[in-house]
Amino acid sequence: METPEALKARIDPDRVPAHIAIIMDGNGRWAERQGEHRVVGHANGVRSVREALVGCREVGVKYLTLYAFSTENWNRPKAEVDALMDLLVKTVIGELEELNANGVRLHTIGDTDSLPESCRRTLLDAIAATAKNDTITITLALSYSARWELVRMAQQLAAAAQEGTLQPDRIDDATIAAHLSTVGMPDPELLIRTSGEQRISNFLLWQIAYAELWFTPVLWPDFRKEHLFQAILDFQGRERRFGLISEQVAPA
Ligand code: IPE
Ligand code: IPE
Ligand code: MG
Repeated sequence: METPEALKARIDPDRVPAHIAIIMDGNGRWAERQGEHRVVGHANGVRSVREALVGCREVGVKYLTLYAFSTENWNRPKAEVDALMDLLVKTVIGELEELNANGVRLHTIGDTDSLPESCRRTLLDAIAATAKNDTITITLALSYSARWELVRMAQQLAAAAQEGTLQPDRIDDATIAAHLSTVGMPDPELLIRTSGEQRISNFLLWQIAYAELWFTPVLWPDFRKEHLFQAILDFQGRERRFGLISEQVAPA
């Protein structure tokens, strides 16, 4: 494979996706392959998060959204869930200085009220401490699922309609987007999933309507900058037609 520098040099800086979302998958398999407990895979995934973040910053991506824990993941064995929550707290505390030094704003989406109190506190503190940074926003999807978010949106709109503050026939795309947890962010243009699985697993269903999808067999703990740059280069080679025909979107 080319070096990260060589790959980066081929990226067109004017057509870098503003928002990249990643389904970080394969930690458990990575660990099991070396006879280790699944949790070892999660711990080794932290370096990959760093690589993805640094790579995004280097090429000017403004939003990186990482699927870190789904609502369905609560049903995993308790020891694994506890270890993941522990890792989250330690990682956020450990990386805070680095985030601030690099202009990274931390944000979360999902039902974060359901997280253990220590996690919630750590996250809220880190979000407040990085709130003024504006180079890149890293969003952790925690206790997140797209259906959870869509149900919540429907409840909010129904309540507003009942109160008389929202007219049902005024509901449009923008109304819906404004009631999702990603409000204020552009939709992801590129969605990456590692570990060879080719599914969405309840991630950002509304927001990825026109995202380009990029799948790799690489397991998340092995994900490095070169994989990110490869994905961006692949993205730049695609024709995004948005329902039009090629002649309508091709540059004159
Ligand atoms: C992704 O890796 C991390 C989380 C879902 C929290 P997995 O833990 O799903 O790893 P595999 O898919 O079992 O290998
Ligand atoms: C999706 O991975 C959720 C996260 C990466 C946090 P899973 O490993 O939970 O998804 P499935 O079970 O393969 O669909
Ligand atoms: Mg998995």
